Amino acid sequence: MTERIVSAEDVFDDGDNELSLRPQWLREYIGQEKLKRQLDIYIKATKQREESLDHILIYGPPGLGKTTLAHIIAHELDVNITTTSGPAIERSGDLVAILSDLNAGDVLFIDEIHRLPKPVEEILYSAMEDFFIDIVTGIGATAQHIHFPLPPFTLIGATTRAGALSAPLRDRFGIIDHIDYYTVDDLELIINRTARVLECDIDQKASLEIALRSRGTPRIANRLLRRVRDFSQVETEEIISESVTKKTLKILGVDRVGLDEIDRRLLLTMIKFYQGGPVGVAALAANVSEERETIEDMYEPYLLQNGFIQRTPRGRVATPKAYDHLGIPLPK
Ligand SMILES: Nc1ncnc2c1ncn2[C@@H]1O[C@H](COP(=O)(O)OP(=O)(O)O)[C@@H](O)[C@H]1O
Ligand SMILES: [Mg+2]
Repeated sequence: MTERIVSAEDVFDDGDNELSLRPQWLREYIGQEKLKRQLDIYIKATKQREESLDHILIYGPPGLGKTTLAHIIAHELDVNITTTSGPAIERSGDLVAILSDLNAGDVLFIDEIHRLPKPVEEILYSAMEDFFIDIVTGIGATAQHIHFPLPPFTLIGATTRAGALSAPLRDRFGIIDHIDYYTVDDLELIINRTARVLECDIDQKASLEIALRSRGTPRIANRLLRRVRDFSQVETEEIISESVTKKTLKILGVDRVGLDEIDRRLLLTMIKFYQGGPVGVAALAANVSEERETIEDMYEPYLLQNGFIQRTPRGRVATPKAYDHLGIPLPK
C-alpha cells in the first residue's frame, strides 16, 4: 500500500507524537458537542452512583478521535484503562487473561472490535451482560466448568464499521455513538491547539488552509501541520505563514480540497479510460495498483462523501464535480 500523507489511518510513525497531542479531558476535546454533552452526563451520573459506566460503542471513520475519547472517558472516571484490539486477541484465553486482570470500574478498550474472532466474542457476551465468564478446562470426561465472576467494568469498543458488528454484540452496548467528520471551524481549533502543544505559532490563514485540506479528520490535520512546521522551521519563520503552508501542501501533492495524487489518478482513470464510468472497483484498483479493499475503505468514502463519485449498481461514476475539479470539460 502506498503511504499517503492524507491517509486517515495511523500508518505513519507518529505514534509518540500522537500520544502527546491527545487531549486528556472532555473539555479539551474539540467538536462533537452532542456526543460530549451526553458523555458528560453519563460520567457524572456514574460517579455519583459509584457504579461502572455502561458499555460504549463508538463508531466512525479512522482518525476522528475514537481512541482519544476512550482514554478521556477513563481519565474522567478516574479509573484504569486497558487497551487492546480485535485482531490482537487471537484466542479465548487471551481475553480471559485480560478480563481477570480488571479492577472494579475499570475501562477495557477494544479497538477494531468488529475483528474479534467469533469464539472470543462469545466470551464477551456474559462478561458484558452479567460480569462473569464460564471457562471449560480439560476435555472429555475430565472437562471442568468454572464459573468465574468478574468485577463490574466498562467495555469501550471502537469500530470503523458498525455494520460489521454482530447483533448480539451490538445489543450489549448501552451507549452507541457515532463520530462525524469535523467542520472546518473545529479543525482550525484542533490545529491551533496542536500548534500550542508543539510550541509553534501559526498564522490564522495558514491554519485555515490546513483545515480545508484535512478531509474533516483531526489525524490528517495534525500530520499536515507537522509537515508544514518542518518547512516553516527550515525557512526560519517566526510564525508559520500562509505562503509556506501553501507551498508545503503543494509539494505534498495535497490539493485545495484535500485530494492527493492517488485520488486524482482514480478520478482521471474513470474519466479517461472509462468515459466517466460506470466502472467496477476491481478494475479501478488494478488501474491504480492498489488493493480493492484499500480503495473501498480509504479512498472511496471521502470521494463519495464530497460528491466526486457516485455509487451505482453497475459501478462507480465520476460526477460533474470531478470533471470540474480536474479541469476536464464535461462530455456532451
Ligand atoms: N476532538 C478532538 N480534539 C482534539 N484532537 C483530536 C480530536 N479528535 C482527534 N484528535 C487528534 O487526532 C488524532 C487521532 O485521534 P484518534 O483518537 O487516534 O483517532 P481514531 O482512534 O478515531 O482513529 C489524535 O492525535 C488526537 O490528538
Ligand atoms: Mg484509534
